[in-house]
Amino acid sequence: MNIFDMKNLCYGGDYNPEQWINYPEIWDEDMRLMKLAHVNCVSLGIFSWASVEREEGVYDFSWLDKIIDKLWKNGVYIILATPSGARPAWLSQKYPEVLRLNSRGLRNYHGRRHNHCASSPKYRERVAAIDRALSERYGKHPAVVAWHISNEYSGRCFCPLCAENFRGWLKERYGTLDELNNAWWSAFWSHTYTDWTQIEPPMFDGETSMQGLNLDWKRFCSDLTIDFFNAEVAAVREFSDLPVTTNFLTDGLNFGKFSKYVDFVSWDNYPRWHNDYENLCETAALSAFYHDMFRSFKAKPHLMLESTPSNTNWQEVCKLKEPGLNALAGVQAIAHGSEGVMYFQWRKSRGSYEKFHGAVVDHEGSENTRVFREVAELGGELSELRNVKGSYTKAEVAVIYDLENGWAVNDMKGLKNEHKGYLKDCLSHYRALQKLGANIDVIDADASFDGYKLVVAPMLYMVSSARAARIREYIGGGGVFAATYLLSYVNETDLCHLGGFPGGLKDVFGIWNEEIDALYKTQTFSAFGRDYEIRDYMEAVHVQDAEVLGEYKTSFMAGMPALTVNRFGAGKAYYIAARAEDEFLSEFYSRLVSDCKITRNAVNMSDGVYAVRRGENIFVMNFSEKDGFARISGEDIKLPPYGYKILTSASDI
Ligand code: GAL
Repeated sequence: MNIFDMKNLCYGGDYNPEQWINYPEIWDEDMRLMKLAHVNCVSLGIFSWASVEREEGVYDFSWLDKIIDKLWKNGVYIILATPSGARPAWLSQKYPEVLRLNSRGLRNYHGRRHNHCASSPKYRERVAAIDRALSERYGKHPAVVAWHISNEYSGRCFCPLCAENFRGWLKERYGTLDELNNAWWSAFWSHTYTDWTQIEPPMFDGETSMQGLNLDWKRFCSDLTIDFFNAEVAAVREFSDLPVTTNFLTDGLNFGKFSKYVDFVSWDNYPRWHNDYENLCETAALSAFYHDMFRSFKAKPHLMLESTPSNTNWQEVCKLKEPGLNALAGVQAIAHGSEGVMYFQWRKSRGSYEKFHGAVVDHEGSENTRVFREVAELGGELSELRNVKGSYTKAEVAVIYDLENGWAVNDMKGLKNEHKGYLKDCLSHYRALQKLGANIDVIDADASFDGYKLVVAPMLYMVSSARAARIREYIGGGGVFAATYLLSYVNETDLCHLGGFPGGLKDVFGIWNEEIDALYKTQTFSAFGRDYEIRDYMEAVHVQDAEVLGEYKTSFMAGMPALTVNRFGAGKAYYIAARAEDEFLSEFYSRLVSDCKITRNAVNMSDGVYAVRRGENIFVMNFSEKDGFARISGEDIKLPPYGYKILTSASDI
């Protein structure tokens, strides 16, 4: 049995029974409550290293044996964790080298979590030992359906060993110092390296101005983390061939690359629901965007491995989810490809850092709370939704959101330095397409473009020659590609393309872009017979072969093109030269969606309503505090605030 064979969607969450070892009645109560909540799956053991190994090499599995058995008898499957996300105190004390050095070169004290050096042979040895022991004991247990390797891998260590590994990684990448010096443009400020040993990570008081180095350091740390993960998997694999995953964050590592090594992608989803700076549907769009990204990484269903049933305890304002929203957010996850809804956490801890974080079971302890009732109700509904499980729908539109591109954009000096707005920009394009009722994949720039009718690339600043060739091939072969300002300024090591931007793609877009202005005040351009506002950025673009569809009306660039299209081979390359208001994106994409004959799951949607297809179901959701409506296959659908409907093509459509 493994997680893919489960009949139902996963429903449950992080379960920390080790915190309640001295309260045996709580474990039994948990079983009763899990049944009531329709829980069929928990993540177990994530932070239980100290409860299993109190002394080096001496394992006490007695409590785990008991709880695993209890869960199994009560029909609850287990995603069993390796505990490397947090160490026992004895380990840090005995082997201080397992602790990270921060960017000032100072060793961290023991504490918190995610605080280990991924290069440390001792840490790797101790982690492998406990992973192996866990796998040997439980790797074939019928209740265990997958491995939750570590927890939210993140952060970096700046110790001499990591620096040495970094240099090794660089040698492999560049071969010679000359190559590296060229790639990093190190003659600037006389930073040329004459010996590999001179290269240091970007220390706080050290070399942080060389962007090629910064980028490579982030890549290296990402690769090192993947290597650490692979070492954990190798240990687990000695006794078990269950699927492995690890809960991804949304940035910090190259998760697109990382996803190749997991059997299924999972992630933790903590939106700032009901905030006072955006509409609920905008908050929901960010979650939707990330779901689409994580699903698209492997082009198969993923899993939302954490979300809160109520509030978090670490956001600026720890707002409760209002009645009804938890179900809507859970259904949203399923609509976008998640194989379940998993919560952090099952039961509120009694003490320490997360005691006031939302949980299914409150300190009060019974099923008689609003949150529990809502969780149980959703659990009941999801247990009926069997036809969704395993289904996957490839979108016809892809938005490129590339994490490494984001690192390069954010590190570059220029434009609006404090807020370059890469993610926000990608989201604006995504939202415009979502409002049109399209299914959307969110892909990284090196993913395949095969099968997409439209590919959208906001602010795709970093374009290597290989990347440019793929874009050229896609458009030449009949694809429609919409790019914006900042396209192809630099190559993969952050060296500017010479000869005019977009480097390597001027003929494809039929333009060249001479300069970019960052704006204090908004400006205006006209297209499709009306005026639109420009915020933040506008480029001075010259047309070579492209057709001009829109023109600047203000600033010294008045009269220059703001929107162009070029026919290249069998396809079309659109270029939006400025950051345009959302109204423009709506109009632009409604034209493209109809030109490209992109399927719309719904039309006439009120604000906050959108629809997504997954397999044979269309999920229509109302992320607003007002009644909502949509038209699907000629039928008018009405939705209450926070309402949703799941229409199955066989019957309802
Ligand atoms: C996650 C973490 C969980 C828990 C949760 C609280 O980032 O993986 O262990 O701390 O946040 O929101």
